[in-house]
This record gives sequence, C-alpha cells and structure tokens, in this order.
Amino acid sequence: MKAVVLAAGKGKRMKSSLEKVFHKVLGFAMVERIFKSLRDAEVDEVIGVFSPRGKELVSSLRYKPDIVVVQDTPLGTGDALKRAYDYLDSVVIVLPGDMPLITADEIRRVLEKGKNYDAMVVAMELDEPGYYGRIVLDDKGNLKSIVEYTDATDEEKKIKLVNTGVYVFKGESLKKYLDKLTPANAQGEYYLTDVFPMMIADGYSVGVFITDDAKQYIGVNNRYMLSVAEDIARKRYLKKLMMDGVTIRMPETVYIEETVVIDNDVEILPYTVLKGNTVIKTGSIIGPSTYIEDSTIEENCHIQYSHLTEAYVGPDSVVGPFGRLRPGAHLERKVKIGNFVEVKKSTLGEGTKASHLSYIGDATVGKNVNIGAGTITCNYDGFSKNPTFIEDDVFIGSDSILVAPVRIGKGAYTAAGSVITKDIPPGALGIGRSRQVNKEGWVSKYVARKKQEGGMHGGSSK
Ligand code: UD1
Ligand code: CA
Repeated sequence: MKAVVLAAGKGKRMKSSLEKVFHKVLGFAMVERIFKSLRDAEVDEVIGVFSPRGKELVSSLRYKPDIVVVQDTPLGTGDALKRAYDYLDSVVIVLPGDMPLITADEIRRVLEKGKNYDAMVVAMELDEPGYYGRIVLDDKGNLKSIVEYTDATDEEKKIKLVNTGVYVFKGESLKKYLDKLTPANAQGEYYLTDVFPMMIADGYSVGVFITDDAKQYIGVNNRYMLSVAEDIARKRYLKKLMMDGVTIRMPETVYIEETVVIDNDVEILPYTVLKGNTVIKTGSIIGPSTYIEDSTIEENCHIQYSHLTEAYVGPDSVVGPFGRLRPGAHLERKVKIGNFVEVKKSTLGEGTKASHLSYIGDATVGKNVNIGAGTITCNYDGFSKNPTFIEDDVFIGSDSILVAPVRIGKGAYTAAGSVITKDIPPGALGIGRSRQVNKEGWVSKYVARKKQEGGMHGGSSK
C-alpha cells in the first residue's frame, strides 16, 4: 500500500511567506506529522507532492516521504495527484498535507475499509460544516458527488456531511480519470473530488466511510485553525505524558512540544513552556513560569522562573528563581544558579554556586567554587571574546570584576569589590581596589559649613 500526501498548495489563507504545510503544530510541521503517522501505520511507500520551494524544505523535516514529486503550479488537488501518476499502481491512500492530527490507527482503519472499493472518500458529520466540500448523496444514500463550498447551492451548503480530504483508490482504476478533470468551477482548479461522479457513472465501486472521530481530520487553512489544531495536539500530548507518569499542575497553562522527552516522576508546574530537543530526567521539578528550549535537565533538578536555551544542567542542580542559561551553559552535578544570574558558554564544576546577580561568560569554572553576588566576567574587550579560568575551591568575593583573559588559581580568593586584571596564583588573595581612608570628625565639620551657607537641614527647601 502506498500513500500520496498533497502538499503543494499555496496556502493563501495563511497570509504567510512560509508554505502552509511547513507551519508547525506543537513542534512538528503539519506535513511532517502526517509522514510520521504514515510511517507508524507501516504504509509501504510514501510520496509527497510539493511545490518547488516546499521541495527544498523537505530536508529540514525529521520525518520525510520516501519520494518527493513536484507540482510547479498549484492547479488544484486533482492536478497535484496527477504529479504522482507513476506511483499509482497499488491501493493508495491520499491525504492533504494540512491535516496535522490524523493518527496511525485511523490511517490503518481507513485503509482497511478502503481496499474494498475502487474509490472511497472519508466523510465526517459536522454541526458547523464551514467551508469543507459537501458530500451529496442520492435518494438511496449512495454517493453522487462532492461539491466545494464555493460551488455549492444554498441547499447544498446546508449539508452537514463533508469531505475530510482523505481518499483510498485502486491506483489503476483511478489513473485515467485524472486526465479527464477540467477546471470548470468557481476556483478554476482541477478538483480531485470530481473523479467520483465519473467513476460512479462508469460503474466502479465507490464508497463513503463516515469517521466517528472528526477531530483527527481538522484541515488547517488559516492561523485560527492552526491554533485549534495545536490546542487539540497539546492536550493530547499532555495527557500522554501524564499517563506515562509525569505530574502536570494546571495543564491548561502548560505548553510542551511533542519533541520534548520527559521521564516519569517529573513535576511540571504552571506556566511552563518546553520546546525543541529538550530532555527532562526523573525527579526534576520544572516551573512555575519556566522556558526551556533545546536543553537537557538531568535527575532531581529544580528549575523555577527561569529561561534556558541550549543548556545542560547536571543532576541535583538548582536554577532560579530568575536564572538565565544561554547556549553553551554546562552545569555539572549539584550546581546552584540563583536569582539574576546569567551563564553563557561556560562550564561550572560540581558543587559550584553563583547565588546572586552575576554574569558568567566564556568561563571554565572548577568544583566547589563560590561566586559572590555581583560578580562579572568581562569577557568582551570590544573586539573579541576572552576566556576566564576559575580553578577548584576558589572564593570570588562579592562584586568582583574579572577582566578576561584571566586565571584564578586553585583555592585562591578575590577581595570583594576587586577589579582583577592579572592572574591570581593558587592559594593567594587577589585585591584590586584602592585602600579605604577614614577621615575622623569629617561629618560635623561638613554639617557646620553647610549650616553657615543655609543649604542644609531646614534651609531653603519649599
Ligand atoms: C479540500 C477539498 C474539500 C475538503 C477539504 C478538507 C478539493 C477540491 N477540496 O479543500 O472538499 O473538504 O480539502 O480539508 O480537493 N494542494 C496541492 N496542489 C494544489 C492544491 C492543493 O498540493 O494545486 C494541496 C494543499 O497543499 C493541501 C491539500 O492539497 O494540503 C488541500 O488543498 P486545499 O487548498 O487546502 O483544499 P481545501 O480548500 O481545504
Ligand atoms: Ca485544506
């Protein structure tokens, strides 16, 4: 059995420079979701019909078709299927590329029903049939034709049985009818749906399969329907995660892309967004209000009110509230990143802590280092990024400025408020600030002078 996915349409109603079927639903392009379901349904060969521009984007998909054919101009669904003519030599399921929610189980069910006919259309009953094509039946309840909304009479528009856009054909029976289509309709397109009345007239066996799960067949033509489809996909994935042992508090506020992998006994707290190639290991608590993209979080971490991209967080680590891990942040075991601490392209060794208000960039930090509040690695001199090395057991005093390139030797200290411009040898104290001077009795002299001038304490202020 083969499948043809029609994905070459312009998607005008999306009002987008990106081809419609490449718009994402929960982390996967719409068309990619169909390829995944077809693969899971074990269809033998999958053919994708793309526009020339779409063809170039196929390589960016995680799930790809076996064969790509091109439709240069979007002349309609009938013309699109004709581009796959050479492959129509078995039972073929045809699906639109803008139907992101169909599952492998449903595809199997449809193929099972469809293989008994020369042509079968999958239909659904909708209370609000919208702009879908209408399924017109004769007095005996047999299929007569499929009428597009734009071509339908007022009477036909009232029909609630509509075309999902999924069909099963015996390829050999279908072939000659694709050549007989004409664009004599409101949209001037070659409608695939017009093969049905022709095949009926010639006595082929034609069927209608009415699905009981219309949700799976939502067609996305605009951004509103994209959000409707994504909401269904989101709830479906959150439910799967919960069934697999992930606790999700207030799931209506949580957005997790289907690309994200989460172990059991992870707890996701409200207002959390997890995206891309993110992995969360068991025992970790994520959120509330946390954004994580393309990152790995090892076991038993706690990350709250924080923003992470392309970061690695070792086991038993704590980030936040209000931590920011930028690309290349690599925390080993039991690291603590506290409030208003930013880490970029830096490794922090086991047991190291940066608890408050710091910037650590292009740094290699050893084990059990204490980074005091307000520490800044000055990694940028206006021309290039320079590295900072902080060896094991170092104590960086509060408000230290580490002017890179610089190395702080094992076990060394920096005095609070220092500007460190030279390497500090192991075990030494680096002080880089002017000495404090106390002027005895200075205040009373100052106050006396101000009073004489009438400028202080009850002077001329209104
Ligand atoms: C189509 C059906 C309609 C059905 C609806 C279900 C036709 C004529 N109409 O309408 O009966 O109710 O789907 O969602 O088939 N495409 C191409 N090349 C083209 C035109 C379209 O590859 O020249 C692809 C599109 O990328 C899309 C799919 O075919 O993935 C369907 O096209 P679309 O324009 O969305 O059709 P609808 O108006 O939704
Ligand atoms: Ca559509």
